[in-house]
Amino acid sequence: MRSEAIAHPNIALIKYWGNRDNDLRIPANGSISLTLGGLENRMSVRFEEGSNADALIINGEASGPDMLGRASRHLDFMRREAGVEAGARMESVTNFPLGAGIASSAAAYAALTVAAASALGLELDQQTLSRIARRGSGSATRSIYGGFVEMMAGDTDQSSYAQQIAPADHWQILDLIVLLDENVKHTGSTAGHALAASSPLQEARVADAPRRLQACRKAILDRDFESLAHIVERDCDMMHAIMMTSEPPLHFWSGDTLQIMAAVRDLRAQGAAVCYTIDAGPNVHCLCLPESENDALRALTENGKRTWKVLRAHPGPAARVV
Ligand code: DP6
Repeated sequence: MRSEAIAHPNIALIKYWGNRDNDLRIPANGSISLTLGGLENRMSVRFEEGSNADALIINGEASGPDMLGRASRHLDFMRREAGVEAGARMESVTNFPLGAGIASSAAAYAALTVAAASALGLELDQQTLSRIARRGSGSATRSIYGGFVEMMAGDTDQSSYAQQIAPADHWQILDLIVLLDENVKHTGSTAGHALAASSPLQEARVADAPRRLQACRKAILDRDFESLAHIVERDCDMMHAIMMTSEPPLHFWSGDTLQIMAAVRDLRAQGAAVCYTIDAGPNVHCLCLPESENDALRALTENGKRTWKVLRAHPGPAARVV
């Protein structure tokens, strides 16, 4: 009983921060993302008869008890569905840095869900896979699909899942990820989500989410970069305002982050099709159209006379068995 799957991380264009239900990872608001081709997590899962322990190897190293426990709980849920008790060996290989705000848990739990379902002989449609992936990591809900994806917040385990808005070939948006810091971020998303409700601004952000989701959906369907840039940057800044005003506050931006944000805004003011968004870490995702890629790269790498490492991603496909 072995299977292998590939899944891609995703970058949220409209983000969620804070859960309505932390155990089920039902988010406080819906979200929209782009699945990132070029970056991937390849996960193999082997259920071993007679073994009752799980093992998790990430990029060749046995993971610590916290990560293993989280992955085991995810498998427990799937094992119950399949009526299987065997322990599993999970081996994951990624081609991008983990835990640095590049949605590594999204790719990991989407790949784990798809590989484990296949190894267990569960025939599940994408909506069900997406619901199950959510229980491992909220953003993994979206990485089950390729292209442009919307997650409906829902309010129950059944109603909280994602669906595709448009396929990967609908619009060639590139994500240039400026790696300002490759270290694991100081506060993980799971701990961060639990703080969101302590910000007095969270209620207003959540109440305004349907408007931002609608604006983003429309910009994607119309391939309207200017409108997309406006709503993506506004949504990112709103999420970080929640983080900065929670108890205790979370500050993910560094001075370099702010410099890159300013450089991106300047570039757009000069006519380039580029905008920024930032997840729960200091690294900046610069979304751009292909015709602005060279200008964006030049501005990013020359900014502050320092050269940053830049990862390049493009609209990518769904999570799949390989
Ligand atoms: C800032 O999905 O990483 O990227 O469920 O704890 O794994 P866990 O949280 P996670 O949270 C994502 C937060 C975000 C915004 C987003 O992707 O919508």
